[in-house]
Amino acid sequence: MPAQTQSAAARSPLTRLRPVALSPTLAINEAIARKRRAGMRVLPLGFGEAGIPIHPALTRELAAAAGQGAYGPVAGSAALRASAAGYWSRRGLPTDPAFVVAGPGSKSLLFGLLMALGGDIAVPAPSWVTYAAQAALVGTEPVRISTPPGEGGVPSPALLADAAVRARAAGRPIRAVIVTLPDNPTGTLASEDTVRRLCQVAREHDLVIISDEIYRDLVHDRTRQVTSPARFAPERTVVTTALSKHLAAGGWRLGVARLPDSPFGTALRASLLGIASELWSSPPAPMQHAAAYAFAEPPELVEHVDRSSRLHAAVANAVADRFAAAGANVPRPQAAFYVYPDLGPLRERLREVHGVGTAAGLTELLLERYGVGILPGSSFGEPAEALRMRVAPSLLYGENDEQRLAALAAPDPAALPWIAGSLDRLTEVLTDLAGTDGAPAAGAARAGLASAAAG
Ligand SMILES: Cc1ncc(COP(=O)(O)O)c(C=O)c1O
Repeated sequence: MPAQTQSAAARSPLTRLRPVALSPTLAINEAIARKRRAGMRVLPLGFGEAGIPIHPALTRELAAAAGQGAYGPVAGSAALRASAAGYWSRRGLPTDPAFVVAGPGSKSLLFGLLMALGGDIAVPAPSWVTYAAQAALVGTEPVRISTPPGEGGVPSPALLADAAVRARAAGRPIRAVIVTLPDNPTGTLASEDTVRRLCQVAREHDLVIISDEIYRDLVHDRTRQVTSPARFAPERTVVTTALSKHLAAGGWRLGVARLPDSPFGTALRASLLGIASELWSSPPAPMQHAAAYAFAEPPELVEHVDRSSRLHAAVANAVADRFAAAGANVPRPQAAFYVYPDLGPLRERLREVHGVGTAAGLTELLLERYGVGILPGSSFGEPAEALRMRVAPSLLYGENDEQRLAALAAPDPAALPWIAGSLDRLTEVLTDLAGTDGAPAAGAARAGLASAAAG
């Protein structure tokens, strides 16, 4: 090609796309669907979908509002904002509806917030894939900070303070820190003390806190409260949540943000609304109507969320037991529908027998050889060679709503034939992988879990 034509080609918009990869959580879902279509028996453990049917009362509310076709206010309807304010107020966070902004999913709201803040963001390592990806999309730098042992979702306060000092000295101060309470990917919940210390660091270094509390209502121990940083640092904390997880309505795309009731919160609201007005105009009107109903927490939905949480706890713990039995270290799942095993104890065998030395290599082997779809810890910002993986067992609850409802109602869901069958298949795969007989005594499994939880 002549030089002139070559440079014209390089300038052409047809050859100068900005490459953006599909989010790993969505990509694994598609990879699993491809395997299934090809006739392979699969275990879908990759996608963070709640796997629970939509409650009929929510469907009823949505249907009642289907005729609402107008755009509506950018921040969301007054009814939804008042309802979300009530939801937070009942959780010890008194909220003025004027400081609530709704959007099409909390992911969109998080993106708008990062764009409005416009500086580097500290994120926990590991943390949900999207934080770092969104930071890169808005042209800022995600600064990954390890979490304290057993307390996923919150950067270690001391390490955050060090990072803030270093970043300032380098002329690129960290502007905000994101926390996930409870956490995806580890399924754990940081302690109140850690949250309090994080807030102190945020004040000392003038950081905004974004507290993603989308799993707040899915703590397995129903007596345990989630402590929001908004309690200790209300002037600088933004809280987000959505219908996606506790009510399993991810596809409805409806999230809400609670901004600080402070001069900073007022300015942030103005920027967020400006961004929202240019990106999504207003949240979808029928969904807002259903969400206003949901955030008012009528008893039938409260009971449904309770039952969902019990199901998540039962299956996540059964999966954790299977990994522990195969020799993995597994933090005991405390919330949501995630298990985060570390196959480090099997490293030698995995290298010698399977030629695998990274989590990505391990999950590729699991998918290609066994049809088991799991995401590697490296997708969540872990070092490549750490053999940690995020296992999301919620798609095992059933192939259809009949099975899923039976799982919700069952006193021992892990014993239902379709769930037990998947768990046994998991044991079969892990046994083959680990070269164990797959069934150490229950006590050994517990010991593996306990030691990991401590460290
Ligand atoms: C920690 C966390 N935050 C936010 C989301 C996305 O929420 P939404 O459906 O409200 O966009 C997810 C979904 O996987 C998540 O795990």
